[in-house]
Amino acid sequence: MTDAAPAVEVRPATADDVPTITAVYNEGIRGRTATFETRERAPDEVRGWLGDPRHPVLVAAAAAGRVVGWVATSTYRPRECYAGIAEFSVYVAASARGRRVGDALLAAFLPACEAAGLWKVLSRIFPENHASRRLCARHGFREVGTYERHGKLDSAWRDVVIVERLLGDAIG
Ligand SMILES: CC(C)(COP(=O)(O)OP(=O)(O)OC[C@H]1O[C@@H](n2cnc3c(N)ncnc32)[C@H](O)[C@@H]1OP(=O)(O)O)[C@@H](O)C(=O)NCCC(=O)NCCS
Repeated sequence: MTDAAPAVEVRPATADDVPTITAVYNEGIRGRTATFETRERAPDEVRGWLGDPRHPVLVAAAAAGRVVGWVATSTYRPRECYAGIAEFSVYVAASARGRRVGDALLAAFLPACEAAGLWKVLSRIFPENHASRRLCARHGFREVGTYERHGKLDSAWRDVVIVERLLGDAIG
């Protein structure tokens, strides 16, 4: 690993990015290391992620504008008292992993979430997903604990580690 800054530009996602965001997500779903999801997504489903000012979606664009990763928030709970909390997901194309693209995405993502009025982002990570756990640790996430046997992936029970990151005045 190198600490050199990646040659990527992180920017808000646009409708033009939807096919690539979808492809990177589906590659991650097929990889079986990141999510319980096994159903690959269609671009029309991903398009619905965009345009909500409360839920930033950012992409990392490499040389010639090629999108190689994304980070996005989604609703944590529908109750109004939790309106400032969001779930998040981050996916980097397999060909671009380990080159600090995820790092660059989270570095831009956390201020974008603060600007959107969020006070917490959280996620759940498979314990074996060391890249994701280290990425989150580097960006100030706390490992809250482990949900045991939280779901099955390909018929096998899997645990997940809960991570949370406070934002803005919630940091205190
Ligand atoms: C997890 C993911 C987003 C990380 O992005 P990335 O660009 O590959 O990671 P970076 O190069 O920015 O490195 C981030 C940290 O992970 C570590 N890391 C990267 N790849 C690693 C690997 N294969 N094994 C262990 N640690 C790894 C790096 O050393 C770095 O840690 P450090 O800051 O302590 O040095 C990316 O690997 C990915 O998309 N994986 C598949 C999808 C996924 O798991 N998403 C998260 C779902 S919760």
